[in-house]
Amino acid sequence: MRSSTRIRLIEPADAAPIAAHRVRDVEAFRRWEPEQPADFFTPEGQAERIDRMLAGHRAGTVWPGVVLAGDQVIGQVTVGGILPQPHLRRASLGYWIGSVAQNRGHAGQAVGLALRLMTDELGLHRVEASTNLENLPSQRVLRRNGFSPYGVAHSSIFLDGGWRDGLLWERILGD
Ligand SMILES: CC(C)(COP(=O)(O)OP(=O)(O)OC[C@H]1O[C@@H](n2cnc3c(N)ncnc32)[C@H](O)[C@@H]1OP(=O)(O)O)[C@@H](O)C(=O)NCCC(=O)NCCS
Repeated sequence: MRSSTRIRLIEPADAAPIAAHRVRDVEAFRRWEPEQPADFFTPEGQAERIDRMLAGHRAGTVWPGVVLAGDQVIGQVTVGGILPQPHLRRASLGYWIGSVAQNRGHAGQAVGLALRLMTDELGLHRVEASTNLENLPSQRVLRRNGFSPYGVAHSSIFLDGGWRDGLLWERILGD
């Protein structure tokens, strides 16, 4: 039986496990995640990044979370670009799960939990996401959580040595 999936706000102590996942997965993630500077792969660099994300959280622009299986940090889920104005109330969602924990339903569960948080705690109305056209696992995660594709953003992200199209996804939250 797989261990349960939880999400919580990121903490400074998450820097080391996040760096360890990203070092191990640098090749596996190359097709899907943008290239990162060298300090992204060190606990110290991740600690600085976490400080910046928590400052964004205090400012209300981001909810930076980690995904847990049992008590182990296995990935991140980030509600970013929060626009809380009453006529917008929207944000975008990003996530990754370390290769050692993939294909056990953790991302699907984590996105479901993030949707609940966006509705109940952040009071949002709409969430958007973007996937590579060939990233079928990520598309499955979104479909399973009620997202629909609504367009293609051409040449929108530089990944693995070239500009790639992004498949755009939307989900209207319970209102
Ligand atoms: C995408 C990602 C977050 C999925 O995490 P995960 O915990 O493995 O996801 P889940 O186990 O919840 O779901 C994976 C789904 O993809 C399906 N899947 C796995 N490999 C697949 C493949 N090669 N082709 C099609 N579907 C595939 C699984 O069967 C499952 O679908 P199901 O629920 O219908 O059975 C993870 O693979 C990852 O972090 N990848 C690298 C970074 C990345 O892609 N980030 C997202 C950028 S948009």
